[in-house]
Amino acid sequence: MREVRVERLGLRGDGLAADGLRVPLALPGEVVRGPVADGVLAPVEILEAAPELVEPPCPHFGTCGGCALQHASDGFLAAWKREAVARALAAQGLAAEVGPVRVSPPRSRRRAVFAARRTRKGAAVGFHGRRSAEIVDVPGCLLVRPELIAARPALAEVARVGASRSGALRCTVTLSEGGLDVEVAGGKPLDAGLRRELVGVAGAAGFARLAWEGEPVATLRPPAQRIGRARVTPPPGAFLQATAEGEAALVAAVREGVGGARRVADLFAGCGAFALPLAEAAEVHAVEGDAAMLAALDAGWRGAEGLRRVTTEARDLFRRPLLPGELARFEAAALDPPRAGAEAQARALAASKVGVAAAVSCNPASFARDAAILVAAGFRLGAVEVIDQFRWSGHVELAARLAR
Ligand SMILES: C[S@@+](CC[C@H](N)C(=O)[O-])C[C@H]1O[C@@H](n2cnc3c(N)ncnc32)[C@H](O)[C@@H]1O
Repeated sequence: MREVRVERLGLRGDGLAADGLRVPLALPGEVVRGPVADGVLAPVEILEAAPELVEPPCPHFGTCGGCALQHASDGFLAAWKREAVARALAAQGLAAEVGPVRVSPPRSRRRAVFAARRTRKGAAVGFHGRRSAEIVDVPGCLLVRPELIAARPALAEVARVGASRSGALRCTVTLSEGGLDVEVAGGKPLDAGLRRELVGVAGAAGFARLAWEGEPVATLRPPAQRIGRARVTPPPGAFLQATAEGEAALVAAVREGVGGARRVADLFAGCGAFALPLAEAAEVHAVEGDAAMLAALDAGWRGAEGLRRVTTEARDLFRRPLLPGELARFEAAALDPPRAGAEAQARALAASKVGVAAAVSCNPASFARDAAILVAAGFRLGAVEVIDQFRWSGHVELAARLAR
C-alpha cells in the first residue's frame, strides 16, 4: 500500500503523482491510498478529495473503458482542456487567446466501435473494459447516440454467425440517414455461406449497410450523411467528425476562417465535411489521401444543387504536399490533418502566397508545431477555439485562423 498526492492529469486522463506513478480515476490535489503494481496505484481509499470530484453519471464508469474522466466536473475538464491547448502553444513560443470550450452534449457521438465475441451462451457485445480485453455491456451508455446502443442485439447476431471461436469482432457502427452503417473487422473469412447469413442478419436488423473487412455485403438503403447541401455516402469505416454538434462548430470556424476567399484548397478533406459547405460560396479543391473518400465527396457534390465547383485530388500530403506553385491559385486553405499534423504542408504553405489558413486539429502539440512554422513566415495566429467532441475523454480538438 502506498499513499500519494496526485499532482496532475496525464494525456489519457489518469492522475499522475510527482514521481510519475499513475493513479487512474484520481484528480489533481487528491491524496489516495492503494496497492501499486507495474507503476500503477489502484486507489482503494480517497484520503483527501479534490473539490472537482463528482459522482460519475454513468453506471458503467470505472469498468467500461469508453470514458476516462467522468469523475471530474465539467468545469474542471473544460479548464484542463484549455490549459492543454495553452501549454502546447506556449511550448512553441506562440501567444494566442484560447476561447471557452464547446463540449458536445451527452449521447451525441454518432459513431461507436463495439467489441463483439461469441460466447458459450451466445455472444457478448459492448466496449472493452478499462485496460482489459473483457467486454462490458453498456445498456445505459451516456456517450453515444441511443440508436447505436440499440444495435447491441443485432451485433450479437453478427458475432454469432461471423466471429471466430477466439477473437473479438471490431464493429464500427455509424448513424446515417438510412439507418445504421456497420463495418466489421476481425471475423471469419467471407465465404458464400457467411455472406448469405450476414445478408439475413442485416435485413432482420434493418441495417442501412453491413460491410465485412471493408467490403459491403448488404446495402439496404444508402448510408448517407448530410453534409451542407450534399448527401454523401462514405465508404465503410471512413473518417467522420464524431458528433453533428462538433462538426457544425468546426464548419462554422472554418467558414469564418476562410472568410470571403473565392478559391479554397481543402487539405486532408476526407469526405468533404468542410469542402462541401465551403462550396456554397467558393470554388474548392479537395485533397485527401484516400481515393474512396474523395469519390464519395465527388458523387455528393454532383448530386447537390447550388454549389460552386469542387475538384478532388488523391494525394499523400505528408510525402507530396501541395507546393507553393500549386497553391498560387488559392486565396485560402482549410487544413485538418490526422494526429501527426501537417508539417510538410505547413512548410509549403509558409513558402506560398496563400494569405489565410483555417486550421482544425485533434492534437494541440502537432498543431502548435505547424502553426509556429506559419507564424515564422509572417502569419498571425488568431483566437483558438476548443471544440470538444470527446466528452469525458482526454482528447482535445481545436480550430484557429492564421492570416498574413
Ligand atoms: C482528421 S481527418 C479530417 C477529414 C475531414 N476534413 C473531415 O472533417 O471529415 C484527416 C484526414 O486526413 C486523411 N489523411 C491521413 N493521412 C494523410 C496523408 N498522408 N495525406 C493525405 N490525407 C491524409 C485521412 O484519410 C482523413 O480523411
